[in-house]
Order: sequence, then structure tokens, then C-alpha cells
Amino acid sequence: MNVVAIQGSPRRGGNTEIVLDAVLAGLIEASPAHVTVVRAADKKISGCVECFTCQTAKDVPGCAVQDDMREVYAALLAADLVILASPVFCWSVTAQLKAVLDRLYACFKFDETPPRCLLAGKKMALVVTSGGLREHGAALCEALYDSLVAFSQAADGGRLMCHLMKPPSQTRNDAALLARAKEFGRSLGKPSTRMSTRMEEVERAAILQALRENKYNRTETARALGISRRALIYKLRRFAKQGYPIDP
Ligand SMILES: Cc1cc2nc3c(=O)[nH]c(=O)nc-3n(C[C@H](O)[C@H](O)[C@H](O)COP(=O)(O)O)c2cc1C
Repeated sequence: MNVVAIQGSPRRGGNTEIVLDAVLAGLIEASPAHVTVVRAADKKISGCVECFTCQTAKDVPGCAVQDDMREVYAALLAADLVILASPVFCWSVTAQLKAVLDRLYACFKFDETPPRCLLAGKKMALVVTSGGLREHGAALCEALYDSLVAFSQAADGGRLMCHLMKPPSQTRNDAALLARAKEFGRSLGKPSTRMSTRMEEVERAAILQALRENKYNRTETARALGISRRALIYKLRRFAKQGYPIDP
């Protein structure tokens, strides 16, 4: 498995790094993986400049900004699993990670309906550390992540939310937290989860494609797929709740 973790904290040896290291240790234990950690703070990555050059490129990001995001695009496109890790900074992810997320705009091709995403079908996961409780900003990180997963047509590998964090010196010795992080990592690496997730993705992609091809007509789509209209409506309701577009 090819894994890319984008780590948003600027603090070396900080809480997010400690927790992410434990997650990756668990993951590697569960499944052989090639892991690349991108420390966003070490990279020169600007925000999106809104030139829309990317929208003229079809199957590549095609971003006009020539900075370190180029290597991040390459790593992301090659990944099976993308882990986003960040501390909560002022009710959201850090500015360093947000710059990366803004630049993912180039991975969406908006001339297609629904927009096609070059990251579709990949598994994503979220790791957050926060000084406060969920309602003190971490919930917004989760909302951001949920939107990204749904809009990217990616598979949600899960989230590890670590609240009320203490200084890194204490985090390093928090056996219960590190065990939880390792267990989360193992769950990301487990083949059974990957296979079932993959099957869901394949089914969803086939249904949404048939829906588009049949101009969103439910009866025609059900006929093309060889399932009952009722079964189709049931599945579409589920996709809609997950944020997938089911109407033009
Ligand atoms: C600039 C800054 C802003 C922060 N804002 C929040 C916040 O809005 N909500 C929260 O729960 N914690 C907040 N925290 C606490 C961090 O999320 C927490 O200490 C985190 O574990 C730090 O991770 P790190 O060591 O990897 O950077 C903030 C910390 C800093 C330095």
C-alpha cells in the first residue's frame, strides 16, 4: 500500500507528529506499506491564485503555480491512502495544511457534472489533535474533512480525534493515547476493511456513472443497472446523505 500523510503542524516533535508516528507504526504493523510523510511547514506551498489554468488540463492537476505542491500532487496521485493530520489552530486546520487543501482545487475538473476528481477512489483518513474539546474547533476540521471525502468521491478510512492534549512531553508518555493511535493505524492497514471499502466505491462509481449517462432519470438508470427502481432510490438517498451529487 502506498501511503501519503500530510502533516500540518509546524511544531517538530509536537503532539500531531507524536500521534501520527504511532498511527503509522500501527499501519505498518498491519500491512506492508510505503509511507511518505509531507511536513507541510517544511514546504514552500502558496495558496491557490485563482488563475483556473488547472481547469484546462484534463487528466493531470496542471496547476500553474511552480512550488513544492508539484511533488505533493505527484505523491497524492500515486497514493492508495491519504492521511491528513493537523492540530486545531483557531478553530480549523493549520494554515500550512489549508494551503495544500486549497491547491487540491486543481485535482477537480469542474467542466464535468459532477466534477471529476483525480483523487476519486482513494482512501482518506483524518488525525486531529486539539487543546480543547470537539466543539472548540475540532468539529470544524471534521466537517472540512467530510466535505473533502464526499466531494473527492474518496473512501472514508476514519478519523482519530485527540482532544484536551497536554504538552508533547506528556503526550509522548501517554500510553493509552498512543495505543489508541496505533490501533487506528492498524485499522487503516487491515486488508478486509480495504476490500469492503473498495467494493462500496466500485458500486457507487458504477451507479453514479449510470445515473449521469441516463440523464439522472431513475427508471432508465435502474433498468441499465439491472436493479429495481426502489433499490436504486434507496442507494441514491444514502449517497446524497454522504454528500454525493445525485441530480444535475
Ligand atoms: C496558534 C494556536 C491555535 C490553537 N487553537 C486551538 C483551537 O482553536 N482549539 C483547540 O482546541 N486547540 C487549539 N490549540 C491547541 C492545539 O491544537 C494543541 O495544542 C495541539 O495538540 C498542538 O499540536 P502540535 O504540537 O502538533 O502543534 C491552538 C494552538 C496554537 C499554537
